[in-house]
Amino acid sequence: MSYGVNSENLNRKIDEAFSAILIEQSKFDAVKPPNENDSKETAALLEKYGQLRGRGFFYPYLSTGRGHGPFTECTDGSIKYDLIGGIGPNILGHSHPLYIKSHLEAAKLDSIMCGNLQPYPQTFELSELLINSVSKSKLKHFWYAGSGSFANDTALKMIWQKKDPAYKIIAFEHAFAGRSVATQDITYNAAYREGMPKNIEVDYIPHFDFKNPEESTKNSLGRLKELLEKNKGQYAALMIEIVQGEAGIVAGTRDFYVQLFDLAKAHGLYIWIDEVQSFARTHQLFAFQHFELDEYVDIVSVGKALQVCGVLFSEELNPKPGLVSGTFNGALSAVIAGHMIIRYLTEGNFFGSNGRNAHLEKEFVTRLSKLANGSCKEKIGHFEATGLMVAFQVGDGSKDIIATFLKKLFENGIVAFSAGKDPVRVRFLPPLCLEDKHLDEIFSIVEKTILEVVG
Ligand SMILES: Cc1ncc(COP(=O)(O)O)c(C=O)c1O
Repeated sequence: MSYGVNSENLNRKIDEAFSAILIEQSKFDAVKPPNENDSKETAALLEKYGQLRGRGFFYPYLSTGRGHGPFTECTDGSIKYDLIGGIGPNILGHSHPLYIKSHLEAAKLDSIMCGNLQPYPQTFELSELLINSVSKSKLKHFWYAGSGSFANDTALKMIWQKKDPAYKIIAFEHAFAGRSVATQDITYNAAYREGMPKNIEVDYIPHFDFKNPEESTKNSLGRLKELLEKNKGQYAALMIEIVQGEAGIVAGTRDFYVQLFDLAKAHGLYIWIDEVQSFARTHQLFAFQHFELDEYVDIVSVGKALQVCGVLFSEELNPKPGLVSGTFNGALSAVIAGHMIIRYLTEGNFFGSNGRNAHLEKEFVTRLSKLANGSCKEKIGHFEATGLMVAFQVGDGSKDIIATFLKKLFENGIVAFSAGKDPVRVRFLPPLCLEDKHLDEIFSIVEKTILEVVG
């Protein structure tokens, strides 16, 4: 079956456009400082934009829409390494051929956004691919949602409907589930819901503590047991980021998850996994696959690197008609890109212990370790990486020092972001296209910046 408009002439022109765009974008492939005039113009524009949205920006960053691989060009004339990728979505790197292809494929179609009433084959194909990729689990359905937060809202509604009237949720300290009316209550940081009425009853247990693996497993298990006994029959689900992102990259062991999940299951709780940030970034497509937890999961939310968001759920959690719907599935270009990204990653050599994700994790850990034990001794604190989720502490990990470090790092040519609280960590969500020559340059910039900031 062919979709959209197609003719030999049109397809040839699209191929030509693809090559021309890729050739032009490939020119933006090396770090470059800003220039004075464009910096002033950018500052003025961002000032105006800040006024429009009611709040300024963390970085003087405005994209020109040009960049290639790990490089992004800013309107101030600078080119920087992008190691945060829009906080996760840009997993392949700027102007990746598949991104260009997705846009051009979508341009042959007759609409921009697609939704639930009038579906497209592309939304079916992505759903089918996602469900096929979790065949060892009991996840059988996929429902699109407009954002990671809304995917979590949708998951919560499905769980609640099945568990009515057991509405309480058990989540993890330092969790981030989004900022919707529902998810802000699951998100651990109370400052993110200042002045908000409480909508959901959430109890928290500690996530894994790398400093004390055995003790921490016992502690989390004990806390879970205590809650389940105290509030018998009142909990609907255990909600977990297998790899916590906003918390500063926190991951447990398989044993940690298995013990908690066994106990939660024994008390009738659904296992709800938030993979909005971890999707495609561990050594498998899903973090629950990385830790071989397929048999446990009942419902999983995804977003970011998939380019669209949604929920995978079991037969049992399929809700009654009317509970979930909505206008949008997403932009057609994003749906096409999601499909291409999954195929590229699962058919290429990205996952598994010898895959690219594992290789890059090793590179980041080795290079951070070299700095922490060498020129930046006592200036880099704890560092951690699970696949393409990387975090490290600089100096005392105070909010001020990390903000200063990130801004200096930006000036020196790297865009990154923070994660965690007390201590705050520097976070990278790097793209898969990084090569050794990029890593060499990145780590020389990181080293220089640490020495500038921590002294
Ligand atoms: C684990 C996790 N869940 C949910 C969300 C919310 O996703 P969104 O910002 O698309 O609403 C995020 C966003 O950072 C996240 O990291």
